[in-house]
Amino acid sequence: MAQDLLDTASVERALAAAGVSPPGRLLVLEQVGSTSTELRSRAVGADPWPDGSVLLADDQVGGRGRAGRTWTTPPGRALTFSVLLRPQVPVERLGWAPLLAGLSVVEGLRSLGLDPVLKWPNDVLLPAGTSLPGWGPYRKVAGVLAELVAQPAPAVVLGIGINVHQESAELPVASATSVALAGAPASRARVLAAVLDRWWERTAQWRREDGRVTGRLADACTAACMTLGRTVEVTRPGGQLLRGTAVALADDGALLVESGGRVVPVHAGDVMLRTVEDGPAV
Ligand code: BTN
Repeated sequence: MAQDLLDTASVERALAAAGVSPPGRLLVLEQVGSTSTELRSRAVGADPWPDGSVLLADDQVGGRGRAGRTWTTPPGRALTFSVLLRPQVPVERLGWAPLLAGLSVVEGLRSLGLDPVLKWPNDVLLPAGTSLPGWGPYRKVAGVLAELVAQPAPAVVLGIGINVHQESAELPVASATSVALAGAPASRARVLAAVLDRWWERTAQWRREDGRVTGRLADACTAACMTLGRTVEVTRPGGQLLRGTAVALADDGALLVESGGRVVPVHAGDVMLRTVEDGPAV
């Protein structure tokens, strides 16, 4: 699939046909700096957008990644969108939001016939035929950037980038892949519908449990998370290095790392994580 149409009317139709229309607003922009920056500005002010609003762009020219990195995608080839979460759960449980977004991407891509895994906290990887230093047998197909908006009440903008149509030469790094390269050609609207379907379902479950992740939802997170059971190296905010084995997810979504006879909780956003078997930080 070379290119596909992405405008508000066509996306609205595709989502309605799949039964996954957003409960909030939906806006598709032809070109934008960053969908997350745009949605953040619409989340505040005189007419704040409601929970479940989705903003996407056909062409994102200033995509932002985690840890100050950039997220680069050619026009018309990737799915770049942001979703507004007005949590309705205790603020101390918000740490689950980026993981649940990553899980929704994993499950959405799975429904398209792919075999993705989650690298804690929310990188989505696909198996590749060959091993690459730093990545082992995986390549990154999607990433999530979660940002807190403080006003009018704490909310989270979840920015999701999924490589969809890119050929190898269109990817910014050798460690990236796309849905098409993995052998599941699908329109961007179809990928969006698949991910949103899982996101509405998973956030509804999470809210029913008042922000706790237990039972089948916890099992799904654990099963998807390829980091568990691996040796990891974590650079803490002060620069200290923690090396150990990722053993479990804590009640608040932190990664529990067993190191030197103690178990240390590692929170998303304050670490650089290196999965040691896979080589350097990714
Ligand atoms: C990462 O893996 O570093 C996170 C990448 C997140 C990229 C998405 S694309 C849509 C949204 N808008 C942005 O500027 N960034 C996120």
